[in-house]
Amino acid sequence: MQVIKSKINTNSEAYKANYAGMLKKVEELEALMKKSTWQGDEKLTSRVKQAGRMLARERIELLLDQDSPFMELCPLAGFGRDSFALGGTLTAGIGLVCGKLSLIIANIPTIKGGAVDHVTLQKGMRLNEIALENRLPVIYLVESAGANLQEQASIFNLGGTNFRDITRRSQKKIPTISVVFGSSTAGGAYIPGMSDYVIMIKNQAKVFLAGPPLVKMATGEITDDETLGGAEVHSKISGVSDFFAQDENDAIRIARELINHLNTQEQERAEKIQEPKYSAEEILGIVSDDIKKQYDAREVIARIVDASDFTEFKPDYGTTLVTGFALINGYQVGIIANNGVIFPEASNKGAHFIQLCNKNNTPLLFLQNITGFMVGKKYEHQGIIKDGAKMINAVSNSKVPAITIIIGASYGAGNYAMCGRAFQPRFLFSWPHSKIAVMGADQLTGVMEMIQREAAMKAGIQINEEQAKAVKAKVAKEVEHQSSAFFASGQLWDDGVIDPRETRNYLGMSLAVIYDGLAKEKDYKQQMDNEFGVFRM
Ligand code: COA
Repeated sequence: MQVIKSKINTNSEAYKANYAGMLKKVEELEALMKKSTWQGDEKLTSRVKQAGRMLARERIELLLDQDSPFMELCPLAGFGRDSFALGGTLTAGIGLVCGKLSLIIANIPTIKGGAVDHVTLQKGMRLNEIALENRLPVIYLVESAGANLQEQASIFNLGGTNFRDITRRSQKKIPTISVVFGSSTAGGAYIPGMSDYVIMIKNQAKVFLAGPPLVKMATGEITDDETLGGAEVHSKISGVSDFFAQDENDAIRIARELINHLNTQEQERAEKIQEPKYSAEEILGIVSDDIKKQYDAREVIARIVDASDFTEFKPDYGTTLVTGFALINGYQVGIIANNGVIFPEASNKGAHFIQLCNKNNTPLLFLQNITGFMVGKKYEHQGIIKDGAKMINAVSNSKVPAITIIIGASYGAGNYAMCGRAFQPRFLFSWPHSKIAVMGADQLTGVMEMIQREAAMKAGIQINEEQAKAVKAKVAKEVEHQSSAFFASGQLWDDGVIDPRETRNYLGMSLAVIYDGLAKEKDYKQQMDNEFGVFRM
């Protein structure tokens, strides 16, 4: 290598003239840059501060790692054009969040309610291009009045690109996390609506297709912001929100925690392995050997994951299914555990979470303790079959390796949705008290009896009660026997019955094997891609 030898004379007139001319331009730039940091009229910004809330740029600052650089993008968008503000109603740039390069896009709600004018739309489109080309995760700090209604004609059509691009990135495993800070109507609502992960802030986020006035005009219904689309509604009822943040700081904390779990780069193992905070021995005291006695799956999770740390996804929605991210022996896993029968919401949540883990290259761990999907007229009408099918579809087509542990009951289609043997988990272990069958022995013999009685009645045959009772007892005994974990293991329906206290060790070893396999597969694919060296022709 050779050092370039400069021929510039820094004392020459030409040099000095250039310097002065360029400095003037730079000063002009600085003035414009300063102007672009305007976040709305003092009256509005001070109102936000007085309410203890953050302005758009403060939200970005808190989200970034301390000392992270921030490369602001398109700050002068709209220069010399008619727009709401220089740079539009978005502030955006690239910085480090938990050490990961991320594109941060923040609406500026203190300028025209964060409404999107033509310049803001164009800027957003360019940001989408940057995210896609560079595979950058996007964190969207949302608070927007949607389209600038005065410019609707010029922005309506291309406005759709923003929603299109969020989901196109998702298809390519580039996640978008939306943190909703305030009112986000119509177009503003579809930003979280299309995102992979959504965090909404208590008493602040208000998300709807149409606000109360438009709802009244359209249907005559009278409602208010909070009941129509508040953070609580979306976290507990609609499922539009995945995380219910207590305040702005909490929301930023959750976003950082999530980005930490995003496996966007290499499959990596955490450097430091932390043991669970609770003893595995306690599992024996938590779980009854009678599988009919329910227990909280989180108590098991707390005893098998590193530091008992669990980032729970949609904790308040579809609550009979527990989903979330954790590390086991330093390896990332997405956990799906049963906490009761699967209702439609729980099934949809399961399907959603499986998709997220696939986009995130995160292996799945199923903790099965399931008596099945919810039955009854209400749920059939609601479409429990199609909701169940969505989860079974997601499990069937899931590409990430899975491990299943049967930690209680494994009955009916619940076994399928929770990655039973037919769904090819890489490893499947059972606890010694677990039961696996189409349904419980009592239910099975009860159903059989009802069918037989009905058939006998139709045929006009008198049932011999003594005989029927004996047959029922015999069948029940047989089903009971065939449902046991040891019987199942004998049939090779699992890869072993394990001591529940050893679960973490089995999982650590299984994950080591899985992650090692993934690395080898990647090497192999790279070799296949590079089959030829360069030919000089
Ligand atoms: N298009 C253009 N301007 C809009 C706008 C929109 N979609 N939404 C709000 N604005 C403007 C207001 O006219 C007002 O302008 P001004 O400062 O010149 O008076 C400014 O933004 C602030 O709005 P305001 O209603 O005074 O503030 P707020 O804090 O009380 O409420 C919103 C903010 C976003 C909750 C409220 O303005 C709203 O609901 N807007 C309509 C949202 C909507 O229905 N969008 C559908 C788009 S398809």
